[in-house]
Amino acid sequence: MADRIVAANWKMNKLKREVDIFMDQFCKILRDLNYDNLEIVISPPYLYLERVISYRDINSCNFYLGAQDVSSFRGFGAYTGEISSKQLKDVGCKYVIVGHSERRQLLNEDESTVRAKIVSALEAELVPIVCVGETGEERKNGETEKVVSVQLDSVISVAKSNGYNSLVVAYEPVWAIGTGVTPTCEEIEKVHLFIKELLKDALGKEFPVLYGGSVKPENSGSLIEIANVDGFLVGGASLSVKSFIDIVNSVARR
Ligand code: PGA
Repeated sequence: MADRIVAANWKMNKLKREVDIFMDQFCKILRDLNYDNLEIVISPPYLYLERVISYRDINSCNFYLGAQDVSSFRGFGAYTGEISSKQLKDVGCKYVIVGHSERRQLLNEDESTVRAKIVSALEAELVPIVCVGETGEERKNGETEKVVSVQLDSVISVAKSNGYNSLVVAYEPVWAIGTGVTPTCEEIEKVHLFIKELLKDALGKEFPVLYGGSVKPENSGSLIEIANVDGFLVGGASLSVKSFIDIVNSVARR
């Protein structure tokens, strides 16, 4: 795995035609660029995973496929509507986003579900991008580190009991997602250091920690300068080729 990662999270956006237009333009630009030690990840809705990966194969365009979620049920079976980690691996995913705050909040995913999803991802040799972060209320109450450490406990307990190859954490303050507001550089630096140290103490190793929440071309250059920020998880700004490539370039330039 590269030292830096920029992952697009398209969420529930785009139709087939828009996927094609994006991927066509994106691959034309990417073909001419050579990024050292930087992985670009595209996470479309499940339905378009195979469509997106087909562009890599046809255009020899250098990106990785990510899923936005995975079932907490392992293997295969009678789980109507669910998608298994093995199926994600089968269609070419390398990464899977787990525990995104939208799923925690809108779909009531709790820590035990998040843990089961991390287990399932690791079993299929997918790299989980585990999202952690506090709400605005929790930050006001000074509870950021407490909340993040409870969420990281899931990562640590699974990694200890099941083993792991690779793991990525994304710090995404809930109040910064889709709002256009970001924490200050000092606030991000503090939480990233906290996450890095907690994981290193518990697992004896460094893990990449991405920042997510209103990353855009206007702020990506300064955000990537922050110590212990190893890349980004990008929502809204990953829907346009131009803004996503601008963000990728600012990380590549660091
Ligand atoms: P945003 O979303 O970039 O639109 O704030 C980030 C995310 O939800 O991962």
